[in-house]
Amino acid sequence: MTATHEVLVTGSTGNTGRPLVARLRAQGVPTRAASRHPSPDDHEATRFDWYDPTTFDNAVAGVRAAYLVPPPLDPDPVAAMAPFLEAAQRSGVSRVVLLGASVVETGGPAVGQVQALLPRHVQEWVVLRPSWFMQNFVGDHHHADSARTLGTITTAAGDGRVAFIDADDIAAVAARLLTAPTVTNEELVLTGPEALSHTSVAEILTDVLGRPVRHVSVPASEFERQLAATMPAPGAKLLAALDRQIAAGVEDRTTPGVERVTGRPPKSMRTVLEAAFDAGRR
Ligand SMILES: NC(=O)c1ccc[n+]([C@@H]2O[C@H](COP(=O)([O-])OP(=O)(O)OC[C@H]3O[C@@H](n4cnc5c(N)ncnc54)[C@H](OP(=O)(O)O)[C@@H]3O)[C@@H](O)[C@H]2O)c1
Repeated sequence: MTATHEVLVTGSTGNTGRPLVARLRAQGVPTRAASRHPSPDDHEATRFDWYDPTTFDNAVAGVRAAYLVPPPLDPDPVAAMAPFLEAAQRSGVSRVVLLGASVVETGGPAVGQVQALLPRHVQEWVVLRPSWFMQNFVGDHHHADSARTLGTITTAAGDGRVAFIDADDIAAVAARLLTAPTVTNEELVLTGPEALSHTSVAEILTDVLGRPVRHVSVPASEFERQLAATMPAPGAKLLAALDRQIAAGVEDRTTPGVERVTGRPPKSMRTVLEAAFDAGRR
C-alpha cells in the first residue's frame, strides 16, 4: 500500500523543487519527491514522468496538495498536464501550486493553458509567476558555462532589465502556500528585489568569480541560432522570443510577492551568487 503523503513535489531534482522538498521535510511535512530520476537513497521519492501517464496514480496517492513544475521547454505542456490534473482530482488532491512564468497570463500560450484548467480540477490553487531565476548563472546552465569558459554571457536582451529571483525564494513561497490552512485562488507575480540588466549581472559575476565576465548582446535571430546548437529548435525559439520581451522592458519591474507570503524580502543577486560560488569552492 502507498504511504500517505501530504504534499507531492514534482520537478523535485530541479531549481525550485529540490529546495522545496528540503523546506517541507525540515518542517516535518510528509513529502513525496517526484521526478524521472528519483534518488535511490530517498525512500519517499517516486519515479514520475509527465509523458508517461502510468506514473501519475502512484505520485498522487494519499496526497493533499501538489507543487507542479511543467516539463521544461515544452511549448504545449497542457497535453501532458491535463491528464495528470484529472488523475489528481480523482485521487482527492485539493490544492495545487503551479509554477508558471511572469510573462505568461492565464489563457496565454504554454503553461497559460494549464493555468486556465486549474479551477476545473482543484478547490484551491495558486499560480506562481516568477521572473527569471538567479540560478541561470550558476551550475550547468548555459550562461554559467559561458561565463566560466569564455568570460561572456550572451543574450538578445540588450539593455533590458530583469528582476531576477532566487529559486529558493520561490520554494519558500511555495512551502507556505502548500501548508497554509487555506489559500486565496490567485496568480502571484514573484520577483527579486531589484531589476538588473545582463551587463550589471556580468559585473556582479566579475566580482564574485574574481575574473572578467562581460555581457554580449546579439540579435534575437543570431541568439536563436546559437541556442539551437545545444537544445531542440522549439526551445531555442522560445528563449530567443523571451529575450526580445526583456529587451522591450517587459521584465523591468519588482513586486512585493515574496515578502507578502514569507514575511521577509527576497534575496539579492550578489548574495545568491556569492553563496553559490562559495559553496562550489568548498
Ligand atoms: N529558469 C528560469 O529562469 C525560469 C523562469 C520562470 C519560469 N521558469 C519555469 O520553471 C520551470 C522549471 O525550469 P528550470 O529551468 O528551473 O528547471 P528545473 O526545475 O531546474 O528542472 C526541471 C525539473 O523538471 C523535471 N523534469 C524534466 N522533465 C520532466 C518530465 N518529462 N517529467 C517529469 N519531470 C521532469 C526535472 O527532473 P528529472 O530530470 O529528474 O525528471 C527537474 O526536476 C519551467 O517550466 C520554466 O518555464 C523558469
